[in-house]
Amino acid sequence: VTEIFDATWLDLREPFDHRARSVQLADALVARLPARPKLLDLGAGSGSLFRFLAPRIGRAQVWTLLDADPAMIDAAFDRIAGWAEFNDWPVTTPGRAMLLHTPGGAWRIEAVIADLAAVSTLPVAKHDAVVNTALCDLVSRAWIETLVPRLKAPFYAALMVDGRASWAPPHPLDRAVAAAFKRDQGRNKGFGPALGPKAPAVMIEAFKAAGWQVATAASDWRIGPADTEMLQAVIDGDAMAATIAEERSTDRFLDWRDDRRHQASRGKLRLTLGHRDLLALPR
Ligand SMILES: C[S@@+](CC[C@H](N)C(=O)[O-])C[C@H]1O[C@@H](n2cnc3c(N)ncnc32)[C@H](O)[C@@H]1O
Repeated sequence: VTEIFDATWLDLREPFDHRARSVQLADALVARLPARPKLLDLGAGSGSLFRFLAPRIGRAQVWTLLDADPAMIDAAFDRIAGWAEFNDWPVTTPGRAMLLHTPGGAWRIEAVIADLAAVSTLPVAKHDAVVNTALCDLVSRAWIETLVPRLKAPFYAALMVDGRASWAPPHPLDRAVAAAFKRDQGRNKGFGPALGPKAPAVMIEAFKAAGWQVATAASDWRIGPADTEMLQAVIDGDAMAATIAEERSTDRFLDWRDDRRHQASRGKLRLTLGHRDLLALPR
């Protein structure tokens, strides 16, 4: 099963992702990087993690954005150029790369179109860090266990779902929706059975078994009553996934969706959605 990821959805979630990621873990990664570090971003999408981490690194750096979807890579270059313009950083495009000329040095961005499922072909050994965001709950245990022995440099995985969802006010069908949603999260997303909310625990286990030092931190989305568009997107996404996982309960899930949409449109709903970030360092 191939999932289609939509750049519009990634745009909508980007500010929530930026506020959610653990600054402490990100800075611990940055502290381990050499001068002019080379980073490989797995499933880079439209470049959200680059826009979060590059300013924290600050100095000259080289990024390889890897994604299977050429349209995503186009979106990434578009978004990065717009972001550079907003910040008054000149942009040049030597060959197929993009260079942002920032006061702290040149930030070089390259792209690779590749299937992450083919672990043995990933260029992980050429980089000073292998990073990703909103990816590791899509992969399988077998995928991570195949990847870990190939890694030599720090591995940073931001925003893995951990299964917590706290709606205010509560709704009698929240638990039924959450249970069905959780089943959908385990569906194969192209890597074998997806880890879904088991991702943080399985990743910790895989790195510890290989003797790596592992740290994690909460990175929950905090979606407030004024964030109507984001609430609507999460409500619709949850209801749709629950329906796919459990077709017999479709009517109940649609009732839940309609009640939640109504509350969101009146500014009467908030949601805290649980995520974890992970930083694994080789000893
Ligand atoms: C949930 S999105 C996250 C994107 C980006 N990291 C972000 O947070 O905005 C997952 C990304 O992984 C990419 N992806 C999914 N399966 C893939 C595969 N088998 N090989 C390469 N990329 C894949 C998708 O195209 C998408 O861009």
